[in-house]
Amino acid sequence: MSILVTGGAGFIGSNFVLDWLALTDEPVINLDLLTYAGNLENLALLARDDRHIFIRGDICDRPLIDRLLHRYQPRAIIHFAAESHVDRSIHGPDAFMRTNIDGTFTLLEAAREYWNGLNEQGRGGFRFHHVSTDEVYGSLLPKEPPFTETSLYQPNSPYSASKAASDHLVRAWHHTYGLPVTTSNCSNNYGPYQFPEKLIPLVIANALAGKPLPIYGDGRQIRDWLYVSDHCAALRRILAEGRDGATYNVGGWNEIANIDIVGQVIALLDELRPSPAGSYARLITHVTDRPGHDRRYAIDARKIEQELKWRPAETFATGIRKTVLWYLEHRQWVERVTSGAYRQWIDTNYGERP
Ligand code: NAD
Ligand code: TYD
Repeated sequence: MSILVTGGAGFIGSNFVLDWLALTDEPVINLDLLTYAGNLENLALLARDDRHIFIRGDICDRPLIDRLLHRYQPRAIIHFAAESHVDRSIHGPDAFMRTNIDGTFTLLEAAREYWNGLNEQGRGGFRFHHVSTDEVYGSLLPKEPPFTETSLYQPNSPYSASKAASDHLVRAWHHTYGLPVTTSNCSNNYGPYQFPEKLIPLVIANALAGKPLPIYGDGRQIRDWLYVSDHCAALRRILAEGRDGATYNVGGWNEIANIDIVGQVIALLDELRPSPAGSYARLITHVTDRPGHDRRYAIDARKIEQELKWRPAETFATGIRKTVLWYLEHRQWVERVTSGAYRQWIDTNYGERP
């Protein structure tokens, strides 16, 4: 028995693979293209572990996926691979359409053919799990209830539109072809190995480097934050007991405004690594807002809590402390993943925001 993971060298995928192999001996076939967001360094702890089989490749490469399915005969596919950064999707949507839509389509077609060729027992035990986001539901008004699994799809960014499209493909492959699938729509994750283009690791890295902490607009936009290992635990619950064809919203009931997130990170840095120049709060800089910026996301997680008995283990206070400590202990990781290409992105995204 084995599982095939796509995008397992990225932020959530690598946390999932590390946790998986810490908890079970079931091998992981890890297919990842190693784009700017994928780093084998995230998996360095598995360098000599033969339960982890890494293949550098593209989810749009159908012959490669066919070969992997044929050779390793996985009992499940957990699909993380995606272009995942909203700001990048605004500057260059092409890669998002290709990987998130074409890539998911390619994977579904390969999975369908593979699944059709299995014996009855193999077919019954197979599962395709699609890892998606709450951003497909669009933006909430201040007093609106959180997103449920039946909320309307109203994606507003090229990223969320491409993820919404992929969710629809997964649904259709289940409905039309009977492919056994589950989908999860999770809120914003944070934790170790998150690429420092996303809010929390960016703020930590910039503060330590004495650089401005860029707050888009008024900073009152709200996200619902979940520690990454809690997301990974939810995915394992869904894989084990999720109902065929079901979707599950995953979130930690942690609605926090961006400016308050930055405030909490600053408070931890001031405590753990005080700067001789005074509080890192002096670095907060309001910059031009993101075009089409969604104002609020919030997840109603009751379905997964009640059906699958999943609950997050971390509060935001415990998770953010662990995260800040991890980044303080892994400054070399940050230096290595922020290559020349990354510095170019910083110029593209922040150079034009007065
Ligand atoms: P990430 O950008 O850190 O990692 C994506 C990984 O996919 C990278 O390792 C990259 O190399 C790989 N990849 C990209 N294109 C590929 C291709 N064509 N073929 C093979 N591999 C490819 O993303 P993440 O934050 O770990 O997100 C993982 C998944 O979870 C995504 O599907 C994302 O939409 C979803 N999600 C993320 C969050 C979040 O807060 N980060 C929240 C909810 C859902
Ligand atoms: P991000 O981590 O990019 O996740 P997402 O856009 O998928 O929610 O951003 C989280 C929030 O932080 C979002 O409202 C945008 C905001 N933000 C800033 O204010 N400044 C920044 O430099 C970044 C990267 C994000």
